[in-house]
Amino acid sequence: MKTVARFFLHAAVAMLLTATLVAVAAIAAPATTPATALPTTGDQPPVKVQSLRGDTPIDRTPDPDLSKLERDRPPIPRSSTQEPPVIPHSIRGYQITKNFNKCMDCHAWSKVRESGATKVSVTHFKDSTGRELANISPRRYVCTTCHIPQTDARPLVGNTFQPSVEFVQKK
Ligand code: HEC
Ligand code: HEC
Repeated sequence: MKTVARFFLHAAVAMLLTATLVAVAAIAAPATTPATALPTTGDQPPVKVQSLRGDTPIDRTPDPDLSKLERDRPPIPRSSTQEPPVIPHSIRGYQITKNFNKCMDCHAWSKVRESGATKVSVTHFKDSTGRELANISPRRYVCTTCHIPQTDARPLVGNTFQPSVEFVQKK
């Protein structure tokens, strides 16, 4: 029994040694294939890699990519009836808090005659269960979750969208 155990021990040690030797040889051996030269591009200029910073040197801060709000203007054409119309005026400083909603200062039904604003839609008086409320529904209270002002930002991707026939502007 003892000899068998010793045999296996020796065998294991021998295998370990061999493995170490092979590994050392692999590391020490010079690379068999020489490092290939970078592929030549012929007459083409070298590929320009552009980072998110663009060409701005590392010690400068790139200009912020801000878009400007558009000037106040008449209502912007809609693409469908279901779409929340975009806000055609500045909303800078218009607060919507628990106690006060600046938008309703002009858009409430009681205010539109004076302000000339569009009445909030009747759909905005329905709560989530379909009940008609006397005032704006809590789910519509924060107007800017759906209505946003326009900026001059360029579209990020091309778009071939066409509004439904009814909404195509007649010239
Ligand atoms: C000082 C008054 C005033 C305030 C405050 C105001 N608006 Fe307006 N809003 C107007 C007027 C006026 C119009 C343009 C109506 C027109 O020219 O037919 C308008 C138009 C809009 C329209 C376009 C409606 C359409 O038919 O296309 C939306 C949407 C709108 N406002 C949302 C808002 C939101 C949201 C707020 C609050 C963040 C707000 N407004 C605050 C006066 C106001
Ligand atoms: C959950 C999204 C949502 C919220 C919040 C919301 N709206 Fe709207 N709004 C819409 C949609 C969608 C429409 C167009 C369909 C409709 O009339 O319901 C619309 C239409 C309108 C219109 C045009 C009405 C008309 O007769 O053409 C006005 C004005 C308006 N909203 C103002 C507001 C104001 C002011 C608030 C905040 C008190 C508000 N909305 C909150 C989604 C929203």
